[in-house]
Amino acid sequence: MKYLNVFVSGGSKGIGKNCVLKFLQNGHKVYFTSRNKIDKNNYLKKDFRKYEKNLIPIQFDSLKFNNYKILLKKIKKLDCLVNNVGDAVKRSSFEKSNLELWKKSFDINFFTAYCATKTFLQLLKKSKKGSIVNISSISSSFGGFPDSLHYGIAKSCMDKLTQSLGKELGKYNITVNSVLPSVIMTDFQKRHSSKQRVRNVLNSTPLGRLGEVEDVSDMVFWLATKNTYISGSNIEIAGGR
Ligand SMILES: NC(=O)c1ccc[n+]([C@@H]2O[C@H](COP(=O)([O-])OP(=O)(O)OC[C@H]3O[C@@H](n4cnc5c(N)ncnc54)[C@H](OP(=O)(O)O)[C@@H]3O)[C@@H](O)[C@H]2O)c1
Repeated sequence: MKYLNVFVSGGSKGIGKNCVLKFLQNGHKVYFTSRNKIDKNNYLKKDFRKYEKNLIPIQFDSLKFNNYKILLKKIKKLDCLVNNVGDAVKRSSFEKSNLELWKKSFDINFFTAYCATKTFLQLLKKSKKGSIVNISSISSSFGGFPDSLHYGIAKSCMDKLTQSLGKELGKYNITVNSVLPSVIMTDFQKRHSSKQRVRNVLNSTPLGRLGEVEDVSDMVFWLATKNTYISGSNIEIAGGR
């Protein structure tokens, strides 16, 4: 089995961290970014300390679009890029929102993925079997919730980029896919959703439960390690919603 070099943007917690751990525990080498300096001993629970040598945290702000070249000083080989950084920024109707909010949303949800993909493309080409997995959102599939269109639409652009890049990069044997989670109880939801809102999502989920971080990381892992034929796809992880 070939061990992969993996990069996850925004891996300090939530979905990104669970992706980091999933790759680590299967023997892969994982680079991840977060804005704060990460202490590996605090980051890894006891059972995971044995994987420490394969973990490379990088303190890096994904919004500093002129700094991405720095990452290439630390990362010389890459097989899988997971564009995970993203945020709803704040809830607002279209009517009350302004250009600044829309720009912030596109910066964190779209241009971070654009910049990381541009930065790492040459390394992924050299991999001979590269993969890009974009962490989108179920809100992309229906144009966004009325109080966060700026988020759903930025994620829709990410999904369109996924489709287009799937076509362009196939000749290098690079697969490009998006995963679209529904509500998963990370800090993201604590910042942006009331308990009632989360209950409403639960009640409208045919499979009768909210998503777990593992539902996402299992799919990301499969796309990076097993998938050889699915590309340009937007895969919903939403319990049938
Ligand atoms: N949770 C959900 O229900 C849900 C549903 C659909 C889609 N998603 C998507 O899933 C992805 C992950 O969400 P999550 O729920 O895990 O969010 P989260 O709990 O807020 O975690 C976000 C991660 O991104 C990092 N981050 C944020 N801004 C950054 C920046 N400028 N530079 C570098 N790192 C940054 C954070 O690290 P630091 O704060 O340490 O920098 C953290 O590790 C996002 O793209 C989100 O849109 C989430």
